[in-house]
Amino acid sequence: MVKIAPSILASDFSRLGEEIAKVEAAGADMIHLDVMDGHFVPNITIGPPVVKSLRKTTKLPFDVHLMIENADMYIDDFIKAGADIISVHIEKNPNILKTIQHIKQKGVKASVVLKPDTNLSVLEGLLEEVDMVLLMTVNPGFGGQSYIEEMTEKVRELRKMADDRGIKLDIEVDGGIDLKNIHKVTEAGANVVVAGTTVFNAPDVAEAIHSLKEQAFGGKV
Ligand code: DX5
Ligand code: ZN
Repeated sequence: MVKIAPSILASDFSRLGEEIAKVEAAGADMIHLDVMDGHFVPNITIGPPVVKSLRKTTKLPFDVHLMIENADMYIDDFIKAGADIISVHIEKNPNILKTIQHIKQKGVKASVVLKPDTNLSVLEGLLEEVDMVLLMTVNPGFGGQSYIEEMTEKVRELRKMADDRGIKLDIEVDGGIDLKNIHKVTEAGANVVVAGTTVFNAPDVAEAIHSLKEQAFGGKV
């Protein structure tokens, strides 16, 4: 079963509540919220107050992707705001194991994120601890970029790592996913797919989500 997580980064920020309601009605499985601080990535988006306000608008799980420095300082705020899954980048985070354990202790799903250039070997000792691994398929910071082709093999390798260890791992991919390449990543082993531009820039959001799901299973649009 493949889950689709529309990223609101590509939506109309003046109507966030309506945009979320639209994708919820269209069959989205969760909402992907990109948090950027202008330091970890060269872009600034939203923080806990916005997440808290949006929490009232939907029952869908909130998949919060933190692209911020000092993530540990803000994790409790995002949990209080209503995050269901928190994804923390492994880069610049020497205490990632502690961070993951802290998130789980609070009853929230914990996920670790790898940039495209970050090697899977960093997951040594972590794979057993996390609920999900988020593999970036573009360099984080902006929506609307092109999928990095080499990431398909990375997804496949990660799925093998998890299978070899008997770990039932959620693998999420984020960046540049469209109707043409979604099948590649799901076939390689991803089961949670973020899609920003493909969903929110589509003339018909419901059709875009439906087609993504269809293509994920190898069907025809
Ligand atoms: C990039 C973000 C992504 C982005 C995806 O840093 O993490 O979630 O919004 O957007 P698309 O699907 O347009 O590449
Ligand atoms: Zn993201």
